[in-house]
Amino acid sequence: DLPDQITIKEVGPRDGLQNEKKEISTEDKIEWINQLSESGLSYIEITSFVHPKWIPQLKDAVEVAKSINRKEGVTYAALVPNMKGLERALEADVDEVSIFMSASETHNKKNINKSIEETYPVLKEVVTGAKEAKKTVRGYVSTVFGCPYEGPVDENQVVDVCERLFDMGIDELSLGDTIGVANPRQVHEFLCKMEHVLLKDQIALHFHDTRGMALANTATALQLGYHTFDGSLGGLGGCPYAKGATGNLATDDLVHMIHEMGIDTGIHLDRLTDAGFFIQDKIGKPLPSKQMQVRAKE
Ligand code: HMG
Ligand code: MG
Repeated sequence: DLPDQITIKEVGPRDGLQNEKKEISTEDKIEWINQLSESGLSYIEITSFVHPKWIPQLKDAVEVAKSINRKEGVTYAALVPNMKGLERALEADVDEVSIFMSASETHNKKNINKSIEETYPVLKEVVTGAKEAKKTVRGYVSTVFGCPYEGPVDENQVVDVCERLFDMGIDELSLGDTIGVANPRQVHEFLCKMEHVLLKDQIALHFHDTRGMALANTATALQLGYHTFDGSLGGLGGCPYAKGATGNLATDDLVHMIHEMGIDTGIHLDRLTDAGFFIQDKIGKPLPSKQMQVRAKE
């Protein structure tokens, strides 16, 4: 059954920008996030408190988080890999902390420099500290549907990582198709098989659109009743530690499809697309979203 309401979580200022070579000024990031806040989005992942050497684009995380206008009713979240990151995130007073790890060893190691086993105690400490500071916590699992280094990932391994994160007390878990290899049949089979462990109200789907399958995968999850999806406006982005990964599903294409299906998101698509043109102009190259291409021709 289709859900009546879908929540869309905008991750462009983090997942989108982290992979862009061209440095975007702090001022432009702030202006862009302010525009996103005015588009009706209820959730924006604004930056990342990772090591600035690993992700130079987001080295101004504290300043961005402190300078944006916080609109009531919008949750402002950021990625946090460890206690050093949590310290910075709390200084910047984000509403929600997002921890992250991979279901495959090699991607985990390349992305956060630890084995899967070594990662758990680090993340556990972050969740405990964030909860003490009265923050909600989102967990990400990457390479759920395939790993750029290892290929297919064992479903039991995925579920094991998910359960370990839920045991830490996370509020929501986002399942990442990091390199956009999932197909609708795989998504259907995975979600049906995991239904007893992965409660619909606690799961978000995070599809990258590397092979153009993200909307099809979204439609598949929607038909199973999943109702929280991540997107990056215009389709900006990728994961810098997953070779060949491109942007997330474009938020504007996602919103368009959902509205056409008669389901509410609370988002003003025109205002959102305007914000897409703002960041496209700063990036200096056309973004892949279909919605923006349609608007550009009007
Ligand atoms: P490390 O080098 O192993 O860190 O990096 P360390 O703990 O050994 O510390 C080394 C030094 O870094 C120390 O400084 C720390 O203080 C400092 P020193 O004492 O030598 O002067 N340090 C930090 N400084 C600022 N902020 C911090 C921080 N942590 C340590 N947070 C680390 C480990 C995790 C930090 C590093 O590997 C890292 O930053 N990785 C981030 C990679 C990343 O951001 N990847 C992209 C995001 S994940 C993604 O895109 C997937 C997702 O979208 C879902 C999907 O699509 O699948 C979420
Ligand atoms: Mg991602």
